[in-house]
Amino acid sequence: MLLSLRIDWDRVGRRDVYPFDLPAFAGLDEIDLDAPVVMFVGANGSGKSTLMEAIAVQLGCNPEGGSPNFRFDTANTLSDLHRVMRLARRIPRNTDRFFYRADAFHVLATEMRRLDAESSFGPPIKTFYGGQDLHEMSHGQSVMRLLRHRFRGRGLYLMDEPEAALAPETQLEVIARIVQLCGEGARFVLATHSPLLMALPGALIYELDETGIARRAYHELGHVRLYKRFLGDPHSVVARLTAED
Ligand SMILES: Nc1ncnc2c1ncn2[C@@H]1O[C@H](COP(=O)(O)OP(=O)(O)OP(=O)(O)O)[C@@H](O)[C@H]1O
Ligand SMILES: [Mg+2]
Repeated sequence: MLLSLRIDWDRVGRRDVYPFDLPAFAGLDEIDLDAPVVMFVGANGSGKSTLMEAIAVQLGCNPEGGSPNFRFDTANTLSDLHRVMRLARRIPRNTDRFFYRADAFHVLATEMRRLDAESSFGPPIKTFYGGQDLHEMSHGQSVMRLLRHRFRGRGLYLMDEPEAALAPETQLEVIARIVQLCGEGARFVLATHSPLLMALPGALIYELDETGIARRAYHELGHVRLYKRFLGDPHSVVARLTAED
């Protein structure tokens, strides 16, 4: 459904201001997005959420999360990236879309509660999430509701740090559910720090760092290598961190 992404640098005014000053974007010409799962991986502040937000807006989703039907805006922090981003796509009309972002999910759940309290047309929004107000569940439980009840085959879903609220075993459930939905034609774009999610079969993984955005295999990823080193010998890694010179 998503084919590729590029930045139209001719339309960028100043390259020395956010978001165009981010090293990950500097050399970004065109990247391939044509896979059931595309993943953006990288250190804090590398630009993953900036990229996810721009893609979400290009797809008509609310930059602070939700489907195209949600229109709330609490902080107005959207960057100008979406204005110069060219997203090649082939998306059938009526394709279901949703942008989940861990850092704003509480706001989204509050907005759903507000809409359900005031709207009299059609079934309450919570019906599409299994019937329960998301504020009555834990964060992790509501993420699973979203994946199990709200997301469906042939939809297009963006998730920024879906693992933030999830125990490892639940992350494995997420992998199984995403594989199932992709088998039914859904497509996912994820930003993640989770080495579990990075193992999603067939994922096209891009690592953002000081040198740009590069496609990487699972075992080449900086996060995966760090986790391996740590889990191989956690106490000596910590001892080295805390050792006095
Ligand atoms: N509205 C803004 N104005 C100026 N700079 C910003 C703005 N939003 C983010 N930045 C900067 O852009 C960089 C990338 O931020 P972004 O949120 O995209 O990172 P990220 O890769 O999602 O990080 P994390 O893993 O912590 O979520 C950060 O260094 C941040 O300080
Ligand atoms: Mg982020």
